[in-house]
Amino acid sequence: MSQYIKLELNGKTVNGIQGETIFECASRYGIEIPTLCHDPRIEPHPSCNVCVVEVEGLPDHQPSCSTKITPGMKVNTATKSVIKARKSALELLLNDHHTDCKLKEYATTYQVEQKNYSEKFVEYPIDFRHPFIKIDNNKCILCSRCIRICNEVVGANALELIDSDFKRIMAPVMGLSLQETTCESCGLCLTTCPTGALTENRNFKSDSLPLESIETIDVFGSEGYEVNLMHHHGQFYKTESRTGEINKQGYINRRILFGHKLFNNPGRITKPWLKTKAGFKEISFEEAYELIFKKFKAVQPDENAFFGGARLTNEELYMIQKLARAGFKTNNVSSFHYLGRGNGYFHNSNENASYCDIRGASKIFVAGGNLHYDHPVINHLIFNTKFKESIEVVHLTHLKNSAFSKKADQSIEIDNYFHFIQAVNRYLIANKLQNELFINERTEGFEAYKKVLLAADYSKMLQAAGTDEKTVAAFAHSYNNEMNALLIFQEKALSGNASMAMHNLAMLSGKLGKTANGLIALKEKNNAHGIFDMGVCPSIGVGTEPILDKDRQYRMKFIWKADQLPQSVNKLEKLLQEGKIKNALIFGEDPLGCAFDKENIKKQLESIDFTVVQDLWMSDTARLADLVLPASMPWEFGGSYTNSQRKIQQIEKQIEVNIEHDSFRQLATLLEKTGLSSPKNPRKALEEAISLFPRRGDYKSLNFNYMNADNPKRQFDFGCDLLHKTIDEEFAEKLGW
Ligand code: SF4
Ligand code: FES
Repeated sequence: MSQYIKLELNGKTVNGIQGETIFECASRYGIEIPTLCHDPRIEPHPSCNVCVVEVEGLPDHQPSCSTKITPGMKVNTATKSVIKARKSALELLLNDHHTDCKLKEYATTYQVEQKNYSEKFVEYPIDFRHPFIKIDNNKCILCSRCIRICNEVVGANALELIDSDFKRIMAPVMGLSLQETTCESCGLCLTTCPTGALTENRNFKSDSLPLESIETIDVFGSEGYEVNLMHHHGQFYKTESRTGEINKQGYINRRILFGHKLFNNPGRITKPWLKTKAGFKEISFEEAYELIFKKFKAVQPDENAFFGGARLTNEELYMIQKLARAGFKTNNVSSFHYLGRGNGYFHNSNENASYCDIRGASKIFVAGGNLHYDHPVINHLIFNTKFKESIEVVHLTHLKNSAFSKKADQSIEIDNYFHFIQAVNRYLIANKLQNELFINERTEGFEAYKKVLLAADYSKMLQAAGTDEKTVAAFAHSYNNEMNALLIFQEKALSGNASMAMHNLAMLSGKLGKTANGLIALKEKNNAHGIFDMGVCPSIGVGTEPILDKDRQYRMKFIWKADQLPQSVNKLEKLLQEGKIKNALIFGEDPLGCAFDKENIKKQLESIDFTVVQDLWMSDTARLADLVLPASMPWEFGGSYTNSQRKIQQIEKQIEVNIEHDSFRQLATLLEKTGLSSPKNPRKALEEAISLFPRRGDYKSLNFNYMNADNPKRQFDFGCDLLHKTIDEEFAEKLGW
């Protein structure tokens, strides 16, 4: 609990919080103190002396970034002698350095001029070897922020200070090039460097351009981190992290940090294109809508299929399923990304612990592959907690000698997550170690689950898991007995049934839904949770409720003013495999480009008579389509994403683009063509969607679900998304990942 202490800041009595520094306390009171070697995301390591202040009773100036406040302390932050000391510090730093950025800014504020370079001046060659990160030691002031953030937050330890030509410089460890080290290319070092010594390695200079920002949410990661896309007249130059409700520390996902350039793709589709014998030709939006309507109406309702990807906004997803269900009377609506992967994933998102809980965990279990590549910001939260709180990190993985395991305290290598967790659950029950209180009060179906699980063949389970009883028992005790145990797992690596088994484990141990406990399921794409919430799944309606539920049907009919709704649910994957789909509308997914088995998916797509694909530029799937529509990004029309903590995050329309009908208008027009009314704008669409959400009491009972086999089918990589695929392939190609 915070304890307040009284002190004086520039003659005024203020309330300081026990443990905070003078800089932190002054910042809370709006008093600006310059800092260069300090970044609130890492531990203070005073070296630049720019933040000095006067503390009455102490002979020397004190670095405010590291000096803790004490009761009765009297601090002056801007006396003549403080300003003089800061000027001297800046002069020293300016000497011998080419400068710009924060150092230059302070030099101007404090009217410090750069003196001629000293005789010892050495000009360092700029290191361009890393494809994404440029190192210019001529601008480095040796503040070590990059080194510390790499050690304290990333856990990669890829940078160090070394001696070169009788001078200290910052460099990748052991004299290697950055990409030869343990560098994870997360780019966090760029975000902390105050002088521009570490910057994005790009082949153009944008420093003189006035950039405007678009406030958005990361369009790659399901964490929902706030970012600003910096552009000049729609040309994107960089991405900056933005602290916010979710992004408390100012971290950033490497995909969006280096991926802003994707939005400058010159091949951006802006008009509908119809395939003809002579190739694609431009047609009007009206012609495109008419063609879609005619084709989709000409066949039986269940011969149509509708797909919405996890990059789309909630509003687009909602409109797609409304178009399918109320407009064309079919429940054939899904995302390729989740096709045939069962219902195991949406359970966990519903009860995810929050990312803030990572800081409170006493032990963290990570299940999956190289989490730091797939979810860098979660990696940062985990490793900064490990650094600060000295907690243990256990990695449960299917990979041999994985890079992430090397960063963890313990690595457990297995063959199969589903069987491993099922074995852990069985061990807990067989040894009566389950949390009876939680199970009795919060859950349903335990007795039935217990019966079938105990009857299952344990040795076969262990064999399929690729482990032994000792390992299972140790894991079970370790997770079950830990006061604040967080189990973080990657959907990318775990099947839907493994995800369900994790959910059962969190219930058995009584940890589900408790602070700094339970589960965090990490989804592959930014709006993967929105897919479930918006009912883009044959058997699930808006609000993740069963689609054929009578009350649900009544509400949908009432709100949509629809006279009739489809009464059957098909296995869409099977219909596709059997060639029974005649028309398909694929919004924001690239199943062919992202398929593991391209031949099989190509065959399925080619069996469809009429395919419409909406995307940003030509994907492999779009090339195969009969009609291509232009897609929009959320900052071009406004919409929301739901992160994997179920937080709906709004993105406003902030830029005009040269597309006559944006994504929302396309869907609205198609809806109206079927005779339905459409929400007037994305905000109204979200309101309509939310009006269909179930009204839940505070407590909804949690159910145990037994699965007797695994369902490891994941047909598509990159979240089935063209944007994701493009940036991941660039990383793979340039870094050999
Ligand atoms: S590269 Fe930047 S962050 Fe790293 S030591 Fe130099 S100035 Fe500091
Ligand atoms: S910011 Fe405090 S010493 Fe550098």
